[in-house]
Amino acid sequence: MDVEIAFRLNLVHGRCVGVRIPSEVDEKVLAELVPEERSFVSTLASGRHPSWVAGRLALREAFRDLGIEPGPILATRRGAPALSSDLVGSISHKRTLAVGLAGRREGGASIGVDLETCPPALSSVQEVNSQARPDVRTRVLTPNELARLERVPEEHRRRTVILHFSLKEALYKAIDPLVGRHVAFHEASITPLPDGSASIALALSENDGTFASTAFWTEVEDHFLTTARVQRQ
Ligand SMILES: CC(C)(COP(=O)(O)OP(=O)(O)OC[C@H]1O[C@@H](n2cnc3c(N)ncnc32)[C@H](O)[C@@H]1OP(=O)(O)O)[C@@H](O)C(=O)NCCC(=O)NCCS
Repeated sequence: MDVEIAFRLNLVHGRCVGVRIPSEVDEKVLAELVPEERSFVSTLASGRHPSWVAGRLALREAFRDLGIEPGPILATRRGAPALSSDLVGSISHKRTLAVGLAGRREGGASIGVDLETCPPALSSVQEVNSQARPDVRTRVLTPNELARLERVPEEHRRRTVILHFSLKEALYKAIDPLVGRHVAFHEASITPLPDGSASIALALSENDGTFASTAFWTEVEDHFLTTARVQRQ
């Protein structure tokens, strides 16, 4: 493959492949896509091409690791990777890295993946300065999560907020295809646990039904890599 594979991992929720995002999408990179994907990418703004292509290549490679040829991976009307009904897959990308998480659909479950840059632990001076800026924490965290954050040492709080953010984005990608609506950050409370799992309490604001959900997190190449699985009960 012309695009560099960064890692291949077996995670609880599926096979995950990381791909380095190419600086430009030239003909050689485009040749890695299937024709339907080449047509689709040409409809997107050029700034999205490198991450879109890398995400497709990562997800296809993850399926191939499972012995599955997924066919063209276009997009659903809500923006998720479009796959045949017996498959599940999710994509995330940060500045240099794209990941695809792939599996077979079991029990109607859906999966999500997210990648976020791990911030370093802050010195207390930086922490004081960052507290002066408008903060994502109140947007992302529920009152319960904010209360638990108070017990985290100050220098680790920013990392903790990013980890919550990433777990919620992975959860969002798993649940959106099941409910077909925007699910807000305050509709789930998550507690990341030191063993790489996370407990989830869903508090959906609409009558979407009941769901069983799990989430996991790990660190890869200075990124949080998080996954979620959601199943209607
Ligand atoms: C859709 C969203 C999750 C994407 O996350 P992001 O951090 O901006 O970007 P990422 O690189 O991690 O993910 C982008 C990929 O997500 C996937 N995606 C987009 N919309 C999606 C959806 N509705 N459902 C599932 N996957 C989706 C796509 O594959 C996309 O990449 P592509 O367009 O290249 O194929 C985010 O923009 C969003 O709307 N979040 C707010 C809602 C939320 O997180 N709520 C928390 C509920 S607990």
